[in-house]
Amino acid sequence: MTSPLYQLTNPFNVMINPIYSPAPNRYDSGMNYRRCGRSGILLPAISLGLWHNFGDVNTLANAQAIAHYAFDHGITHFDLANNYGPSYGSAEETFGQLMKKSFLPYRDELFISTKAGYDMWPGLYGNWGSRKYLMSSLDQSLKRMNLEYVDIFYSHRFDPLTPMEETLQALVDIVRQGKALYAGISNWPREAADFAYRYLEERDVHCLLYQGRYSLFSREVEREGILQQAHERGTGFIAFSPLAQGLLTDRYLNGIPQDSRIARGGHLKKESLTDEVLQRIRALNQIAAARGQSLAEMALNWLLKDRLVTSVLVGASSVAQLEDNLKALQGPSFASEELEAIETACQ
Ligand SMILES: NC(=O)c1ccc[n+]([C@@H]2O[C@H](COP(=O)([O-])OP(=O)(O)OC[C@H]3O[C@@H](n4cnc5c(N)ncnc54)[C@H](OP(=O)(O)O)[C@@H]3O)[C@@H](O)[C@H]2O)c1
Repeated sequence: MTSPLYQLTNPFNVMINPIYSPAPNRYDSGMNYRRCGRSGILLPAISLGLWHNFGDVNTLANAQAIAHYAFDHGITHFDLANNYGPSYGSAEETFGQLMKKSFLPYRDELFISTKAGYDMWPGLYGNWGSRKYLMSSLDQSLKRMNLEYVDIFYSHRFDPLTPMEETLQALVDIVRQGKALYAGISNWPREAADFAYRYLEERDVHCLLYQGRYSLFSREVEREGILQQAHERGTGFIAFSPLAQGLLTDRYLNGIPQDSRIARGGHLKKESLTDEVLQRIRALNQIAAARGQSLAEMALNWLLKDRLVTSVLVGASSVAQLEDNLKALQGPSFASEELEAIETACQ
């Protein structure tokens, strides 16, 4: 019912965007939380990544709906990087708007990350792993996101030409300056990661998280021992692209939808969807159906069965996708025959 006062002040009956008030039961809605290595931090088993779907090519309304849904369902961790968008920087700007409009009163309930390491701005100082790049990039990120500090700042990738000491000392100093509470590394090869863990530890900056690509279709971190190494070092592991950018879902079972990541162009190429890959997706989809799950749910379930995985970092282009992904938390455990069938389907 519209109150008479409202009608008086809103004579044209325009819709007013209400102030966000998060779900009171957000910590009792099925999310579970895992300890991040040897640290005081718990992370949600499913976290939200803003690589795609939060840029200035997307609508703020959709980005806001996804972010609200996430927080309302116990997702406390939002993952960003300087160049997420497109365009570069725009996902952080969108998040900055959400901070202002919705999340500012809840800042201390959120664990927010950003990174620098990939191509960001032209010239000599907007890429790779120099101290100059990392320091100035984080300053820019904080402004875009309307934040005083991030919870974790990552070196986004290993730089073979910059001395590791320079990149890592920048992380140490960023933490000392209070611009990030924790440091992390992403996409660092095993040997370099070993050096990083030691370097940081010796300076009393424990490496909180390793962020690596991990899914049924990308098993390198398992094969190369990166997962195990993080565990032994007391560092949490967070898996990115757990759905192989959408391949491990029902998205491409019947062609390439117009609004899909492949159709939009960008990092997931049409060429990735070979007949062989499609065959694997179909076989996995059948196993998922027999378990009473969507393929996306099963793919996440499969990652989360491993306690070495602290969190999986999903992307979503709609609230419905995120809703589906969160069902993975209630998925049945795997029988050994199912695990074998999954391995066979992935070959
Ligand atoms: N450190 C790094 O180098 C690095 C690299 C990549 C990503 N990341 C992080 O990891 C996050 C996740 O990466 P990602 O976006 O590639 O993750 P992903 O979860 O593997 O893929 C997300 C995409 O899958 C589709 N999807 C998601 N849920 C679905 C569902 N239930 N049913 C059908 N389709 C579904 C959507 O595609 P459509 O858009 O087609 O709908 C969505 O955009 C990023 O946002 C970022 O934070 C980090």
